[in-house]
Amino acid sequence: MPRIKFRNTSPTTPFKLEPNQIDGLIKKTADDDPKIQQINVADANIVDRCESCHMGAREPLKITAVAMAAASGQKKPDEYDRAFTSHPEPELLKLHDPEKFACSTCHQGNGRATTSIEKAHGNYEHWLWPLFPRENVEAGCQNCMQRSVPGQR
Ligand code: HEC
Ligand code: HEC
Repeated sequence: MPRIKFRNTSPTTPFKLEPNQIDGLIKKTADDDPKIQQINVADANIVDRCESCHMGAREPLKITAVAMAAASGQKKPDEYDRAFTSHPEPELLKLHDPEKFACSTCHQGNGRATTSIEKAHGNYEHWLWPLFPRENVEAGCQNCMQRSVPGQR
């Protein structure tokens, strides 16, 4: 099986959005009906609302936090810039369509929560599966892959 190679997604990776791309994104966002975005995967009993905040996750245009910050004239990305990025691994999402896999299958976190970042990411005392931190994000692959890789548990 070919090994998927993960790119370095350092939030400082330079990338610039063109003015017409920014206008397009602004229009898309303005036209968007502000509501809870939800993925239901009934078979696995998963309800994920991550995209209520991560609105750019499935945007085909590459949006980095740095590009978002630059578009609003800031030098450094803030947490909103970091939340609005497009998914750093669009190819991975083609292989694992979020409509079928949702987000928390790979990332963990509390998919239903929308009231705060801490709750959504499962970083509080009543949630057993907090978001995998950046340095072991690939741990999420094991949720499924350990069943298909011989010799691993
Ligand atoms: C209430 C809004 C909100 C919800 C809901 C939310 N997030 Fe986030 N998320 C954020 C914000 C804001 C950031 C940027 C935080 C920062 O960089 O300080 C972020 C950052 C992240 C990161 C990057 C973390 C890192 O270590 O750099 C990942 C991955 C992520 N979210 C995944 C998810 C997943 C998966 C879900 C659903 C289970 C989810 N988020 C739900 C707001 C949200
Ligand atoms: C098949 C597994 C998988 C699915 C499904 C998935 N992701 Fe990811 N995601 C990853 C991996 C792996 C990375 C790290 C990629 C890298 O470093 O190149 C990542 C990175 C991210 C980041 C950037 C984190 C950072 O460090 O800057 C965010 C935000 C994020 N995902 C949100 C989401 C959201 C929202 C969904 C649902 C729409 C989702 N992901 C679905 C595997 C997945």
